Amino acid sequence: MRPVRINQENVEVNMRLAKDVYSSEGILLVPQNTLLTANHIVKINLYQIHDIYVYPQEEQIVNKSQIRQSLANTPEFIEFSYKYDRKVEDIQKHLAQIVNTGTINTISLTNLVDDILDSTVSQSQLFSYMCRLKSADDVTYNHSMNVSLLASILGKWLDMSDVSIKELALAGLLHDIGKIMVNQTILNKKGPLTEEEYDHIKQHTTLGYQMVMGSDLPDGIKQAVLMHHEKMNGQGYPLGLKWENIHPYPKIISIVDIYDAMTSERPYHKRFHPLDVIRMFEEECYGLLDTQYLYIFLEHIAHNFIGEHVLLSNGQRGEVIFINKQSPSRPLIKKEDGTILDMLNDMSVFIIDFI
Ligand SMILES: [Fe+2]
Repeated sequence: MRPVRINQENVEVNMRLAKDVYSSEGILLVPQNTLLTANHIVKINLYQIHDIYVYPQEEQIVNKSQIRQSLANTPEFIEFSYKYDRKVEDIQKHLAQIVNTGTINTISLTNLVDDILDSTVSQSQLFSYMCRLKSADDVTYNHSMNVSLLASILGKWLDMSDVSIKELALAGLLHDIGKIMVNQTILNKKGPLTEEEYDHIKQHTTLGYQMVMGSDLPDGIKQAVLMHHEKMNGQGYPLGLKWENIHPYPKIISIVDIYDAMTSERPYHKRFHPLDVIRMFEEECYGLLDTQYLYIFLEHIAHNFIGEHVLLSNGQRGEVIFINKQSPSRPLIKKEDGTILDMLNDMSVFIIDFI
């Protein structure tokens, strides 16, 4: 079947591009064979591309990107997604109960965490599944679930004990509980916050701490609620603590908190791709987040993308074959002509997208 020409307004996620899309200046925006995501569609709209060519559904070309995409249609993922939604509802009920009664039922919360962590999927599957779950969801309950799962994953990557991993998952669940107490209009505001509004949102750390401080929860969990916006250089909030005075749990929570916020749709930004987030972490977050934890987190995420086919900023394409330990966002690429590009040796080239 021949490619179909469609108008910009009719472009949908998961359509496969039959021809490269260029800007009016001749810059390659989205290459042929790309399975379109929301980000691509934003780009196509932004550059005012009126028509594009896509393959009819049945003529789509199978490659690894497509296999990864089709994972979202497997019975295992559908079951995972269903259970995920039910667990988010449970989290909402539990957190509302804490706010309404002013008491923390540690046993009930521990059971909830057991239920969240009780998954038949493997750790690498869990991360892959989570990459596909991202959508425009609320900023508190889904985020709490994601941070809980990601904190437990990072805890495993850090070889922490089962007890610590469970506590981290609970810390992830509760870290933003204070957000239930702040003004929801400000919390969900689209566009930049005023300084006053930002100061109001910042209070969620101390409000949350006041809710958990009198409970019998482990101390690290309470510290995570209070300190997850502290920065290693002392420029975070609410206390302006430095690295040596910050508990390990909030150090871990702050990394996965930022990662989940960046890879999720938010009222004020579109979701970023995980490799983009790795690059941003590398460029902007060393010195602000715990370097040792961050390094292990980024390295493991990057390893998840070995075997992916990518488009480079110079227009070349290739496959990610090796992750550079020094800089996980700059892997070794096997190009289409068979030659190898070490992205650490050519800082002018960067990955634009997966193809
Ligand atoms: Fe927070």
